[in-house]
Amino acid sequence: MKVVVVCGGDSSEREVSLSTGKAVFEALKANFSDIECIDCSNIKDCISKVVQSKPNVVFIALHGGFGENGQFQSALESLGIKHTGCSFKESVISMDKFVTKSILKKNNIPTPEFLLIRQLNQIELIDFYPICIKPQSEGSSVDVYFANNVKEAKPYIENLLNKYGSALIEKKLEGDELTVGIVYDIILPIINIKPRKGFYDYKNKYTKGATEYIVPANLPKNILDLVQSVAYSAYKSIGCNSYARVDLILEGNIPYVLEINSIPGMTATSLLPKAALSSGISFEELVKLLVDKA
Ligand SMILES: Nc1ncnc2c1ncn2[C@@H]1O[C@H](COP(=O)(O)OP(=O)(O)O)[C@@H](O)[C@H]1O
Ligand SMILES: [Mg+2]
Repeated sequence: MKVVVVCGGDSSEREVSLSTGKAVFEALKANFSDIECIDCSNIKDCISKVVQSKPNVVFIALHGGFGENGQFQSALESLGIKHTGCSFKESVISMDKFVTKSILKKNNIPTPEFLLIRQLNQIELIDFYPICIKPQSEGSSVDVYFANNVKEAKPYIENLLNKYGSALIEKKLEGDELTVGIVYDIILPIINIKPRKGFYDYKNKYTKGATEYIVPANLPKNILDLVQSVAYSAYKSIGCNSYARVDLILEGNIPYVLEINSIPGMTATSLLPKAALSSGISFEELVKLLVDKA
């Protein structure tokens, strides 16, 4: 049984992906003897290297870009190569926060009020300040901004329109930031994310000690149950049935879903592995489970 870990890629999350790839590769050694780790640059490079190495299962450790938006999944599925993680369809949906939120809304799953802007003059349509401005399809908190009025919002929106061609506008929420990992049908314990300063931006995500993680979250039992059930409904609403991580903000007693990560970070200290560990599943067991299920 040959397992190939694919990492790297060309998105803004390349470095994160290399860490995930390395960690997964090391952890797989505990249970598999025939493993290879491939660092590839673009989709063509990734696919040709995978085909050459003839794997039984590909462990996708790519983040963002073609590795997460469904292109790579679709190529593997066409080639009949099994892979860990969400399939083509769920990858396409979850990579696009606007599409994801539209599906959540249709299914009555709470998500912050939102609007997709494609032209600067649409800024007048925003009537729910304060807002969060973010790219439609990025990750790692790249280009996430906040604004209290049109004047503050304009330069950020202009920047996103120039860079990405669209800007996703959301109502800014206040409350506990939570994340819920789901592995097949196991809903992992909730993590409460508490950055020591500011919001959960790139620096607070990847600087050691910058954020406190409380797992399991210290919230009343009825709220914990509600958060887990909203997260699971979100996961199911887009068709997931492998693994993913759902990000939420608890405002008042309502857990609002921000997004569904179809390829969550997978270093030993990443959020989903942290939650798994708190329920007794080691990192080695977790990566083995994902390969076995694939
Ligand atoms: N509507 C919002 N209100 C308040 N904070 C938000 C909102 N949306 C995002 N954030 C903050 O920005 C971070 C990144 O947003 P998220 O939608 O999870 O995108 P990604 O993690 O893919 O970059 C969140 O973890 C949270 O700290
Ligand atoms: Mg997020």
